[in-house]
Amino acid sequence: MSTVGILGAGAMGAGIAQVAASSGWRVRLVDLDLQTCESAKTGIVKRLTRNVEKGRMSQAEANVAADHILPSGVVDLADCELFIEAIVEDIDVKVAALKPVIEVLPAAAIIATNTSSLSVSDIGDRIGSAERTCGMHFFNPAPIMKLVEVVRGNRTDEHVLDRVEAIATDWGKKVARCADTPGFIVNRVARPYYLEAFRCLEDGLADPPTIDAAMKTIGGFRMGPFELTDFIGHDVNTATTRSVWEQWNRPSRLAPSAVQEAMVAEGNLGRKSGCGVYNWSGESPVCVLRPTQDAASGIGDIGQLAGELCAKAVNDVEKLSKTNDRQQVCFARILAAVMNEASWAVHDGVAAQADIDTAMKFGVNYPEGPFAWRDRIGSDLVNEILAAFESSSGSGRFIEPPPT
Ligand code: NAI
Repeated sequence: MSTVGILGAGAMGAGIAQVAASSGWRVRLVDLDLQTCESAKTGIVKRLTRNVEKGRMSQAEANVAADHILPSGVVDLADCELFIEAIVEDIDVKVAALKPVIEVLPAAAIIATNTSSLSVSDIGDRIGSAERTCGMHFFNPAPIMKLVEVVRGNRTDEHVLDRVEAIATDWGKKVARCADTPGFIVNRVARPYYLEAFRCLEDGLADPPTIDAAMKTIGGFRMGPFELTDFIGHDVNTATTRSVWEQWNRPSRLAPSAVQEAMVAEGNLGRKSGCGVYNWSGESPVCVLRPTQDAASGIGDIGQLAGELCAKAVNDVEKLSKTNDRQQVCFARILAAVMNEASWAVHDGVAAQADIDTAMKFGVNYPEGPFAWRDRIGSDLVNEILAAFESSSGSGRFIEPPPT
């Protein structure tokens, strides 16, 4: 039986342990003390029991998975083929915690970090094991979210990435490979979904429920950008935006939204604080964030182009008739911004088109990847609408990367 060691039995470490154990791996779960690991195991067993109740697995399978999880100490890690670090997001703490682990792990063991925002290459270098260190970025909750971003550090061996991809696939995950760059794929390419929605609101194009409805009705997104940021938490969402924006040298495309940051300063964090864009305290959410201005003049010539884009993007033409011109402009702006960010990500060497499509479909449940969408809409129309948004906004946000 293969063995994986996991350092950190918090939200992510416990979720990854459940995934690995359910796929027949022995899991050595390590945290600051054994008690934390035991409590994490209790939580995992509860989730497995719920899966049995829902008919997703048999009781016998749940028992086997639970038996595979062994609360452990660092000294127990000598039989691990793979080791995954999932502790606090602080490079000094991670490096200090990994050093004693390296002493115990077999020389050929692969070391993966679940970091979302730190450099995988820096971690590998600082622990003196760059060739066998990579990123294995799961999404929360790990047992449910299908994606794993497999991150190539500057010096990671190719066979390490191949093996990690094979393991993640064996654990039932979809893999997107990417370079060690800020935000990797998902946390970068998804930014305009939130940011451009806030900009449509700031420009007075429409209010949040109208924009949320546009994205769901025309695009088939499961949640609109305002519902989704309320769900994620605006503190978490704005912190990721700032981190990615700063690390990519502040491109206008990724600039934070003043309105969203003001919400955080006022404590309106979303569902967890009871109020964000919507007030969640009643039976159904009530929108409390309104545009401060109305778009001075109508939507102008761009309305026609946006309508054409929506007609190609929508998978049910009936649905388009339920939306108005402004909703179509908002949809076109947000989707065009996401597609453009995906093109910049390829240009910047983050990942290949196919990996970006996989990442967006399985990391944030987009109905299609940005490049599949671009193919369906037609690149000429996408280029035309990006140029039109750029000339009307003069913002720099819709400028495309130079052709390669
Ligand atoms: P968490 O706070 O739920 O769990 C962290 C665990 O690490 C705790 O159980 C803590 O006791 C343990 N820990 C801290 N220092 C330790 C040390 N020196 N030695 C051993 N154990 C130690 O954190 P969470 O959310 O599970 O995040 C873990 C990592 O996963 C972070 O790098 C985070 O950026 C990343 N991540 C988090 C996601 C999320 O949505 N929560 C999604 C993807 C990645």
